[in-house]
Amino acid sequence: MATPRRVAVVVGSLRKDSLNRKMAKALAAAAPPSLSLEVVEIGQLPLYNQDDDASPPPASVAFKEKIAGADAVLFVTPEYNRSVPGVLKNAIDVGSRPYGKSVWSGKPGGVISVSPGAIGAFGANHHLRQSLVFLNVPAMQQPEAYIGGADKMFDASGKLTNDSTREFLGKFAAAFSAWVERNAAS
Ligand SMILES: Cc1cc2nc3c(=O)[nH]c(=O)nc-3n(C[C@H](O)[C@H](O)[C@H](O)COP(=O)(O)O)c2cc1C
Repeated sequence: MATPRRVAVVVGSLRKDSLNRKMAKALAAAAPPSLSLEVVEIGQLPLYNQDDDASPPPASVAFKEKIAGADAVLFVTPEYNRSVPGVLKNAIDVGSRPYGKSVWSGKPGGVISVSPGAIGAFGANHHLRQSLVFLNVPAMQQPEAYIGGADKMFDASGKLTNDSTREFLGKFAAAFSAWVERNAAS
């Protein structure tokens, strides 16, 4: 079998009991063997400051190396005030600079948004896509993934108990694997 594609998973919540992190874990369990998913942490990143471009903070350099080493990126994010959480936007900005040294460009991408609310963080999903267009990340369009009612989907141990969502995650991951093959650099 071919080597699995390495997918950097960026979770847009720092919360200990994050529904998005649980969903990312459930996605990794539902993914085909052609994908290897690993969460790349963003909570340690300093706030992006353009003054640091000549000598970026070590945590930012390490983050960029992890993203650069991945074949694809997958964002799993909540919605804050109808947009992406600041921590996620910060990670995107950190990865995009210094100018000309973005680690995002050309990486096949995907977006899953997760909320307890009914509309599944649609606003965050699409605000994120606006940045991805600019960053030259070809983001998979179908299936769309707006997962609402997520607060009712996990048991006390954090395991996904909703069968239809598990099935959906499997389909999403299979489609994403095909998307990565179609858009990967090599
Ligand atoms: C600052 C803030 C703003 C929020 N705004 C929204 C929102 O616009 N839409 C929404 O569906 N949920 C909103 N929520 C609720 C989050 O969806 C909920 O806290 C969710 O559990 C966050 O994801 P997490 O569990 O992965 O941390 C907001 C929560 C916070 C803390």
